[in-house]
Amino acid sequence: MEPHTKNRTFLILGGYGNTGFLLARLLLQETDLKLILAGRSREKAVQAAAHLNSLFKGNRVSGLKVDASDSSDLKQAFKKVDFVLVASSTAKYVKEVATEAIAAGIDYLDIQYSEKKVPVLQAMAPKIKGSGRCFITEAGFHPGLPAAMVRYSGQYFDRLERAVVSTVIDADWGLSVSDATIYEFTEEFKDYQPFVFKRGQWQKPKMGGMFDSLKVDFGAEFGRRSCVPMTLEEMRSIPEIFPQIKETGFYIAGFNWFVDWLIFPIVMVALKLWPNKAVKPVGKLMFWGMKTFSSPPYGVVTKVEASGEKVGKAKEIEVSLYHQDGYLFTAIPVIACLLQYLDGSIKKPGLWMMGHLVEPNRLMKDMERLGIRVQVKDKTSQST
Ligand SMILES: NC(=O)c1ccc[n+]([C@@H]2O[C@H](COP(=O)([O-])OP(=O)(O)OC[C@H]3O[C@@H](n4cnc5c(N)ncnc54)[C@H](OP(=O)(O)O)[C@@H]3O)[C@@H](O)[C@H]2O)c1
Repeated sequence: MEPHTKNRTFLILGGYGNTGFLLARLLLQETDLKLILAGRSREKAVQAAAHLNSLFKGNRVSGLKVDASDSSDLKQAFKKVDFVLVASSTAKYVKEVATEAIAAGIDYLDIQYSEKKVPVLQAMAPKIKGSGRCFITEAGFHPGLPAAMVRYSGQYFDRLERAVVSTVIDADWGLSVSDATIYEFTEEFKDYQPFVFKRGQWQKPKMGGMFDSLKVDFGAEFGRRSCVPMTLEEMRSIPEIFPQIKETGFYIAGFNWFVDWLIFPIVMVALKLWPNKAVKPVGKLMFWGMKTFSSPPYGVVTKVEASGEKVGKAKEIEVSLYHQDGYLFTAIPVIACLLQYLDGSIKKPGLWMMGHLVEPNRLMKDMERLGIRVQVKDKTSQST
């Protein structure tokens, strides 16, 4: 199916941010859509739009000042568009954005990692469905890819018993990240409580998962890394999708030795003692450590180690995805998901998580075409 994008306009909240700008660039490359880049600075939005118009024909991009905390701004902006793509660090305004999207009769996709965002949207789910809107949440790489990758791996088995997803992010944090993004990221550590599914049930690891770490081999460039569990909402329903599964979860490798061993303990203690006051200073400290002590080679790898049974025999596979640029590794899965939405194949009323909604084979093919390296290894026979 071809995407129906002519004469349709998407608004990207955070459209001149690191991820938002790449989403815009890829949408211009892959579709005929018109775009509005939005954020709190009209000047930055207009400048970024002009830059994109110089790269792509048709003058399809414009810039607009929209503050996600301001319902009247959202109302005005949503009148002009068919879809809102939320790439801004505005998880705390999810209710305002979702309410105005429903009122304007437009569909929605967000990419933020925020444990508080999902329950707000889930409480609005009957309204979203009732109004016939298609809302896609938890899109991107994490959240976004892990559940899709487990579903992709599942087709190699008659009986999937273990599917553990892990990731390493060795990014060049020297890029400028807005303060709003730093603080939103830091807020997540306040109630950080990972869950892992082991021996057929969800368990709460002690000490924030420090003693449930997993050694994962991320290949020649990144080596064997110690990963700690992290909760992703999309993983919660994996045992329902694969009732025979005994172990699943999402694990993440540390940033660098300085942040992991010196800054993180300070961050966790400070956030416990001063949950509100500490966010800004420890957020800045953490990003300073990430910038200063991270070094090349840069890149992101996410992999699933899956095992189970196929035609009565034990089977083990590994699916791994890689891109050199962490922001493209975030934007590409979103575009691959939107291509399925745009041709109508996954567009349906309700609230959906990207990892559950997408058709995983096509997702992998589109991601590969857009630059993500996809490798499937049969570990049973050790052949590729
Ligand atoms: N799913 C994934 O795999 C994944 C991966 C990476 C990042 N993310 C998420 O993506 C979001 C953006 O990350 P990023 O690294 O691209 O951040 P970034 O480069 O700092 O960009 C954030 C953008 O949001 C805008 N923004 C902030 N507050 C706003 C408000 N109140 N109203 C409107 N716009 C606002 C910023 O512009 P102004 O400050 O000028 O308004 C900026 O354009 C974050 O929530 C992050 O958690 C998800």
